[in-house]
Amino acid sequence: MKSILVTGGANGIGAAICRAAAEEGYRVGVVDLSQEACRKLADSLAGSGHQALAADVTREDQVGAVFDAFGDCPDVVVNNAGVVRFGSLLEQTVDDWRTVVGINLTGSYIVAREAGLRMRPRGSGCIINMSSINAVTPGPGSGAYPSTKAGVVALTELLALELGGDGIRVNAVAPGFVDGGMSAPIYADPEVRALRGGAVPLKRLATEQDIANAVLWLASDKAGYVTGHHLVVDGGVSHSVLLQLPRSKK
Ligand SMILES: NC(=O)c1ccc[n+]([C@@H]2O[C@H](COP(=O)([O-])OP(=O)(O)OC[C@H]3O[C@@H](n4cnc5c(N)ncnc54)[C@H](O)[C@@H]3O)[C@@H](O)[C@H]2O)c1
Repeated sequence: MKSILVTGGANGIGAAICRAAAEEGYRVGVVDLSQEACRKLADSLAGSGHQALAADVTREDQVGAVFDAFGDCPDVVVNNAGVVRFGSLLEQTVDDWRTVVGINLTGSYIVAREAGLRMRPRGSGCIINMSSINAVTPGPGSGAYPSTKAGVVALTELLALELGGDGIRVNAVAPGFVDGGMSAPIYADPEVRALRGGAVPLKRLATEQDIANAVLWLASDKAGYVTGHHLVVDGGVSHSVLLQLPRSKK
């Protein structure tokens, strides 16, 4: 049975990844801040043997303990835990910046490092880091978030180079406008929902399942020759600027 660890797995996109992985027969380790939330999600998954593993990804000791408690080295590790602090860069505090960098970028490194150290002796493994279209098209008012996601892309590319010889693939997934997770409050407004959904070339917001599908594909043998890739899953919106602008009449 294949196994997968998903950070930030108790809610939003992470929970969708856990559900999709369990449906595909993976043994799932749900990693999140609250043991109660991890347990609730783990108990709701298809199949058996899933684990609830409370940890803060910014804490090396807690991340090491998660891998120890999971038992066998996981086949797949998904660095999905992430936060955003909205506000312009000049209005943000340095503490806001440090919090977001600490969880999204340093936390991803801590988890990927622990995963790589354990996968290397086995000679196989797959690490998937959650990026965002903010890595390539930063959203005004999203503080440190775009910088952390651009950092996650660079982290992914370098890890892919350094771990490829050990049979470990490392990729990133960049969701666009997702109807759920941390964006749920944004799309609770029907006007914003219609405007943003309508601006996407595929004419709809992404579901959490759309993102989970991409993660599960990257984790599968069908993506066995894919590494160092930044897979944008956004219905085409991140390169749609010419679609949004009126054309010249001349
Ligand atoms: N929802 C979107 O629109 C969207 C778009 C692009 C990228 N993303 C990315 O997808 C990932 C998941 O986001 P989501 O929308 O599901 O958000 P979410 O807030 O629903 O879930 C994030 C999870 O991470 C957990 N978490 C936060 N800090 C943690 C820490 N220090 N240690 C362990 N767990 C921690 C939270 O408890 C939460 O369960 C994030 O990396 C986010 O940046 C989301």
